[in-house]
Amino acid sequence: MTAKIRTLTGITTTGTPHLGNYVGAIRPAIEASHRDDVESFYFLADYHALVKCEDPQRIAQSRLEIAATWLALGLDTDRAFFYRQSDITEIPELTWLLTCVTSKGLLNRAHAYKAAVDRNTADNEDGDAGISAGLFMYPVLMAADILIFNAQRVPVGRDQIQHIEMARDIGQRFNHLYGAAYRAATRGDSDPFVLPEAVTDEHVATLPGLDGRKMSKSYNNTIPLWLSAKEMKKAVLGIVTDSRAPGEAKDADTSNLFAIYQAFASSEETAAMRQAFADGIAWGEAKQMLFERIDAELAAPRERYGALMSRPAEIEERLLAGAKKARERSAPFIAALRESVGLSTRTAARPVTPGRGAAAAHGSASAQWKRYREKDGRFYFKLVAADGGLLLQSSAFERPDEVGVAIDRLLAMSGQAAIDSTMLALDGRVGICAEVATVANALAVLAEIEREKRAAKAAQD
Ligand code: TRP
Repeated sequence: MTAKIRTLTGITTTGTPHLGNYVGAIRPAIEASHRDDVESFYFLADYHALVKCEDPQRIAQSRLEIAATWLALGLDTDRAFFYRQSDITEIPELTWLLTCVTSKGLLNRAHAYKAAVDRNTADNEDGDAGISAGLFMYPVLMAADILIFNAQRVPVGRDQIQHIEMARDIGQRFNHLYGAAYRAATRGDSDPFVLPEAVTDEHVATLPGLDGRKMSKSYNNTIPLWLSAKEMKKAVLGIVTDSRAPGEAKDADTSNLFAIYQAFASSEETAAMRQAFADGIAWGEAKQMLFERIDAELAAPRERYGALMSRPAEIEERLLAGAKKARERSAPFIAALRESVGLSTRTAARPVTPGRGAAAAHGSASAQWKRYREKDGRFYFKLVAADGGLLLQSSAFERPDEVGVAIDRLLAMSGQAAIDSTMLALDGRVGICAEVATVANALAVLAEIEREKRAAKAAQD
C-alpha cells in the first residue's frame, strides 16, 4: 500500500462563491477529491471568517452556502474529509500550543498585518489602530489548521504562500522544542509535525471578471456562481468587450470573454471559438455561446444546490459526520501533543502498568485477540472481552503478517498517550468500539501477560 498524499485547504466563509472561486479553487479541489493517490481535507474556515466579519447572520449564511456549494458540485465526502473548522475543538487547542512557540516578530512580518499597520501610518494613526489580535494571530490559527492533520500539500492562492511558510516555521520550532518528548510519549521515531508545502497551480486559470481585471469581490466585478439561468445570461451579457463590430476580426488573447469561455470549454470548443473570433463573430453571439457553455456545466449542480439549501438540516448532518471523521485523527494527535508539552492530565490518573489483580477487577483479564479472514479474502482482527463484548475491531489488511504487526504494536503499549499515538500510527485501521478506558485497560493487561510470558521463557532458557 503506498501512502496517500495528504492535501488540505481552507475556505474562508465570508462571501458568496463566484465563478472565479469555482474555476480557480473549487472545481480543481473537487476533481482532486476523486483521486486515489490523495487524501484530501477541505474545511470551512469559519474561525478565520470571524477575523474579517462581525455579522453573525452573514457568517452563518456564508457557511451554509459554501457547504452546500461543495456538496452540490459533487465533493466525494466518502473519500475526502469535509468539515467546519469550528467543529474541530483540537484546532483552537493546538493554536494555543503553537502560539507559545511562535515569536511575535514572525507575526509582525505577516503581509496582511503589515499592510494594515502601513495604512494606519499613512493615515497618521497609531500603527495598531483598529487591528484585532485575531488579525495578528491569523497565521497561527492557519498553522494549526494545517498541522493538526499533518498535511503535506496545501493548495492556495499566491497571497497565502507566506502563511504556509509561517506554518512550516512554527511547526519546525515545535518539532525542535518538543520532538524528543513527543517521541518518548509516542514511543515512535517521528517528529510531531510534517512540514507542509504550498501548492500554487500554474495551470489553473485566474478568471477575469466582468471588467477584465481578476474576478474578485474587492473589484466588484464578479459573477456569482448560483445565479438562475436567466440571471446568469444577464450577467454574461454584462461582460465588458471592445467596440469591434460583427464581421470585424477580434483578438482572442486579449479578450476576457474568451478567457472565461476557455475556462468552461473543451480544447476543441476553445479552438473553434478562437477561429470564430478571427472570423469576426459578433460579441452578442459569443456571449450567447459562453452562457450556454456555463449553463451546461452548472445547471444540474444548481438544482442540487437549491435542494440542499432548502434542507439545511441535511447540510448540518453531513458536516457533523465530516467533523466526526476528522476528529478520529485530531483527537488522538492532540492527546500526544499535550503529553509532549507536559499537559497529560488525561493519563495521570491511571497507573501505567496495572497489575493483573487490578485488571481482573475490571473484568478484562481474559480479553482475547481473534484473527480471521473474511469472505472478501482480506485479513482482520478483533479484541473481544471476556463477556463477549467487542473492544476493538480492525479494518481490512491485505496480508496476515500486517495483522501480526498491528497486534504487536497494540500489545507493546501502555498508557493513554501511547494508545492514542499507536492508533494514529495505525492510520485509522483500528476502531475503538467500546469505552476507551476499558480497551486501554485490556491492552495494558495483555501487554503485562505477554511480558510475564516472555520473562518466564527467558528464565527457562
Ligand atoms: N487563509 C486562507 C484564505 O484566506 C483560508 C485558510 C484558512 C486556509 N486556513 C487554511 C487555507 C489552511 C489553507 C490551509 O484563503
